[in-house]
This record gives sequence, C-alpha cells and structure tokens, in this order.
Amino acid sequence: MDHLVSPSLLAADFGNLHKDVLMVNRSQADWIHLDIMDGLFVPNISFGFPVIEYIRKAAIKPLDVHLMIVDPDRYLSRFHETGAGILTVQYEACTHLQRTVSEIRNLGMKAGVALNPHTPVSLLKNILPSIDMVLIMTVNPGFGGQSFIIESYNKIAELRMMIDAGDFNILIEVDGGIDTTNAARLVGSGVNVLVAGNSVFSSADPIDTIRRLKNLT
Ligand code: DX5
Ligand code: ZN
Repeated sequence: MDHLVSPSLLAADFGNLHKDVLMVNRSQADWIHLDIMDGLFVPNISFGFPVIEYIRKAAIKPLDVHLMIVDPDRYLSRFHETGAGILTVQYEACTHLQRTVSEIRNLGMKAGVALNPHTPVSLLKNILPSIDMVLIMTVNPGFGGQSFIIESYNKIAELRMMIDAGDFNILIEVDGGIDTTNAARLVGSGVNVLVAGNSVFSSADPIDTIRRLKNLT
C-alpha cells in the first residue's frame, strides 16, 4: 500500500485553527493527527473535547487520535462520540491492554498501541492479533519539535518482521521529528503512516511539504 501522511495539529496555529484545518483538507494528507495530553502521562497538557469537536466539524479527513493520558479507559466512548476514527493508547498507560483495545474496536474505531522510545516491540507479541496499528514514538512524547531518535530504525525493522511473519494486517505509524529528510528511509523500512507536526506547520508552504512527504523520491 502507499504510505499515509497524518499532519499533527499540535504544531498548528491555535489562534487560527480553522485556517490550518482547511489547509489540511485541501492538502494530500490522508488523516489528521490529534495529540491528547493530560499533564500526568506526559509533562504537558494539549487540548480536549471542545477543540476536538470543532476539528471534527471542520475536517474532512479521518481523525487519528493519539492519547498520551493515564487510564484512557475512562474516555474511550467519549472519543468515539467526538469522532475519532483511529484511537491509539500508550502501551505504558494500560494495565489491561487487551481489554482496552477490544473496547476501542467494539465501539467501532480502529485500535492503535503506541510505544515510548524505551519500550521494546517484543512486548507486543501477544497483542498483535487484536490491533490495527502500532505507533512507534520516535521522540519522547509530550512536545512537538524534538529531534528524531535514530535507534527507532531498529525498532521499526524488528516490528516489520513480526508483522510480516504473522501476516497481520497492522499499520506502522511513526511520530516525532519526522520531516522530508528522514521520511523516505522510514517508508523504506516498512513504515505505513508518517505523523508530522513542526515540519509541516512551520514550513513556508505546508501544502507543499505535505505533498513532498506523500510523494517521496
Ligand atoms: C509528541 C506528539 C507528536 C508531535 C510531533 O508527543 O505525539 O505527535 O506533535 O511533532 P513533531 O513532528 O514536531 O515532532
Ligand atoms: Zn502524536
């Protein structure tokens, strides 16, 4: 399959969110990535349901919602009602991960599991049959604009082998420090979804940057 591009609105202009959502609508982006931070799982707070509801009304692309929150089970149905198409929880925040991803799927959403940089992909072995996506964090979560962690390439290669060996229908998404300089190598390593925040929204021409992330040479 062709890879997908999911611009992260964390790097958007919150003083003019409407303009940035319309830009993503017009672009070649496949999804819109929404980072939900609670100030507990990560040392930052982003935005909540009123903002997501607004984005849902303005956006024409699926909402790719990344929860960096403790105890996400409390809010799964709320995120479904708010319009999430893909809901990703952090492995490290879920004591009963199988129950959590089953509930996400039962609600009608795709289920993703995100791994912090220090969390090995081998821990996913027994959950792979129950999920639709693995998000490899390529920075420590909490903030946009950080540098890509180079060790991520080894994790991606290992995960790609696990998925292919089991013939699972699972996407690999990467998130953090993704730009036009590393996108081609990532996709070549088996990545299916590129999340990009600052490299898109801080560029002089965000639509063209999304086009370049989508059409790699
Ligand atoms: C980080 C978030 C990312 C972030 C990526 O905790 O999960 O989605 O927005 O931002 P950039 O692309 O700027 O590293
Ligand atoms: Zn994210």
